[in-house]
Amino acid sequence: MLLALIFALLAGAAAFLLFKFATAVDGDLTLVSRGPPRRERVDGKVVWITGASRGIGEVLAVQFASLGAKLILSARNKNELERVKQNIVSKNPDSRVEVLPMDLSCGEESLKEVVHAAESLFSNAGIDYMIHNAAFERPKRGALEETEEGLKATFNVNVFGTITLTRLLVPSMLDRGMGHFVVMSSAAGKVPAPGQALYSASKHALNGFFASLRSEKRVSVERCAELTIVAATHGLKEAWISYQPVLAVMYLVQYMPTIGYWLMDKIGAKRLDAAAKKGNAYSWNLIFGGKKSV
Ligand SMILES: NC(=O)c1ccc[n+]([C@@H]2O[C@H](COP(=O)([O-])OP(=O)(O)OC[C@H]3O[C@@H](n4cnc5c(N)ncnc54)[C@H](OP(=O)(O)O)[C@@H]3O)[C@@H](O)[C@H]2O)c1
Repeated sequence: MLLALIFALLAGAAAFLLFKFATAVDGDLTLVSRGPPRRERVDGKVVWITGASRGIGEVLAVQFASLGAKLILSARNKNELERVKQNIVSKNPDSRVEVLPMDLSCGEESLKEVVHAAESLFSNAGIDYMIHNAAFERPKRGALEETEEGLKATFNVNVFGTITLTRLLVPSMLDRGMGHFVVMSSAAGKVPAPGQALYSASKHALNGFFASLRSEKRVSVERCAELTIVAATHGLKEAWISYQPVLAVMYLVQYMPTIGYWLMDKIGAKRLDAAAKKGNAYSWNLIFGGKKSV
């Protein structure tokens, strides 16, 4: 009797978790089971964010500032960085925010100067968290339509610039015995991404270099930024942020690759078709719908 009760409770818990995963989850189960961001891990720390002039990087800056971090904001567009800074300071005049424009594709010598400038800020405090968020644009088109220029431009920013920046930062972090890298990867760096071959290749390359953090478009940037900070402050080695069906496909490719890659083969052409028609490239229809999708 007791055994039956325990079994029923376990089955109920498993069913609840499965239901939650299928319907309401916007990150992998380890990530969403953690609590809110741990303020004590970032309060007063120096957080350098690339790609902070818009999108997820901008929202990360706002959320890190609200947790008491000292911020260095980087991207190419100085005016946009100043706008983000003003927005943060107008909400909280005590915020410590510095703007450091840079182009990730400018090569090692120029990046050396940028790293030196970043480490000198806040009275030579050094960098506690490097948030690699900047990325080259990611238009959706077939793999064979990609050009040499697109290949170089994508890898210069997403891979070479990001890795060089990391190499330049590591020595001083090791000297100080402190420093974290947070990498905004993508579901496209974990599973095939039909229509985004170059972007996917660049993110797979990054994943080979970093224990990386995953993110995906349809989660709101606020939630994405919040989960990113949860992952960073709880010291998670890897975290997936996405909705269904992308999360389910990621779990399948990771733990049941035969089924996962079979599914991706089934989805591929339909996803390209949906992207060409400006339809939903993340829809369940790609899995369950007919050959042509909208
Ligand atoms: N949004 C999503 O749905 C999604 C999904 C999966 C993964 N991600 C990842 O999350 C990160 C942020 O995505 P997002 O959508 O917020 O990006 P976004 O809106 O396209 O912004 C890209 C940022 O990178 C900066 N940037 C571009 N080229 C640069 C360069 N050469 N040097 C320095 N900075 C450069 C841009 O600023 P400037 O133009 O001023 O330089 C901008 O601040 C990216 O790594 C992306 O791959 C996003």
